[in-house]
Amino acid sequence: MDSIKITGGNPLKGSIPISGAKNAALPLMIAGLLSDRQLVLENVPRLSDVRALTRILGNHGVDITIAGKRKGDAQDGGDTLVINASTIVDTCAPYDLVSTMRASSWVVGPLVARMGECRVSLPGGCAIGTRPVDLHIMALQRLGARIDIEEGYMVARAPKGLKGAEIFFPMVTVGGTHVALMAATLADGTTVIHNAAREPEVVDLADCLNKMGARISGAGTSTIEIKGVPRLNSATHRVVPDRIETGTYAMAVAMTGGDVMLAGADPAHLQAALDVLKKAGAEVSATNEGIRVKRNGQGIDAVDVTTAPFPAFPTDLQAQFMALMTRAKGTSHITETIFENRFMHVSELARLGAKIALRGDLAIVEGVDKLKGAPVMATDLRASVSLVIAGLAAEGVTTVNRVYHLDRGFEALEKKLAACGALIERVRG
Ligand code: UD1
Repeated sequence: MDSIKITGGNPLKGSIPISGAKNAALPLMIAGLLSDRQLVLENVPRLSDVRALTRILGNHGVDITIAGKRKGDAQDGGDTLVINASTIVDTCAPYDLVSTMRASSWVVGPLVARMGECRVSLPGGCAIGTRPVDLHIMALQRLGARIDIEEGYMVARAPKGLKGAEIFFPMVTVGGTHVALMAATLADGTTVIHNAAREPEVVDLADCLNKMGARISGAGTSTIEIKGVPRLNSATHRVVPDRIETGTYAMAVAMTGGDVMLAGADPAHLQAALDVLKKAGAEVSATNEGIRVKRNGQGIDAVDVTTAPFPAFPTDLQAQFMALMTRAKGTSHITETIFENRFMHVSELARLGAKIALRGDLAIVEGVDKLKGAPVMATDLRASVSLVIAGLAAEGVTTVNRVYHLDRGFEALEKKLAACGALIERVRG
């Protein structure tokens, strides 16, 4: 199994091109199921999660070809997906596929809307929490689907099609909002989603659906209105830049020191995280090119953070921020409100010399003068990258194992960091 070897201590200097957002690309690919016409997605990140979803959609009969290859790219290395779901051959999403990638269970929305029935495996829990889908089911039931749970599957039926309805989410759910939004585009009549997720990826999905002919307004606010249409057309859409990749590299620069342009990043998508970085002592400025992050000389100040739905500080940056706080002057309190078990990185950061105490959903991080390299591993994507960041600032060699987690969500991670002066390499194993 591959690992990433980092020799810490170098500041980061240069420019990092920000890729398209994984968390936008996946629902956009799934939205391709809604139409029998071609959907072209540009700026799709080259990630193992995208390749996995390509295979899963292929199982439903969706034909996806990859274009937009650059010189030196691997065979499947293009960033443009041409998605053709003219014929759905199978409306079942089996457990062995859904369990490899939980977002693929969101196919339940478009499949029941377009085909009137589907059988989709429940995704189950994962390393960061139980991650229920009861609210996805509730939203589809509100739209008139009958849902039975049979042998671990959601069996959804709406033989006469879905009907527009009011959907009230008792808590903000990104996945639930994606499912409801996709399903409601083809429902008969008007749907209003209350307490909708406001994440930029939801806005991106709504923008793409509108290009396909959907009639959605209010995406980006907590009330989204969808006027159903009988069918969707072809469209071309460019995936938004990845705000989590952006925030991750911004934190890496704050930690190692240096001066990096995060090219193509959109500051409006991660204002809360940028504000926290400024409080911690980084210089952050928005330019036409992207976001420039600098830190020279002075140390990092301790800042308290609580994760919450957009526009607050994102759960997907919590682990990376904790890595930064391990070297702060003082004590930082980090509260995780989205997932009950998202502190898997704590014990690994401790292997590098971090001092972190856990009290339920609160991590108390006491800054230390230095971290020292060690072999580490993590059980999820964002936790893994937090160990990379810590390794960049640690003395000596850090080896991050289980690199497949990183490959799920960070395109060309080691290349992007090495181009800015980091001593980082992939060791094939
Ligand atoms: C969540 C994050 C998203 C992040 C992704 C991957 C939020 C609001 N969501 O999205 O930013 O990119 O993980 O790390 O920050 N819930 C239920 N029932 C449901 C659905 C959700 O109880 O049917 C709960 C979850 O357990 C969780 C909360 O609602 O506590 C938010 O979950 P949700 O936004 O749906 O999760 P993801 O879509 O995976």
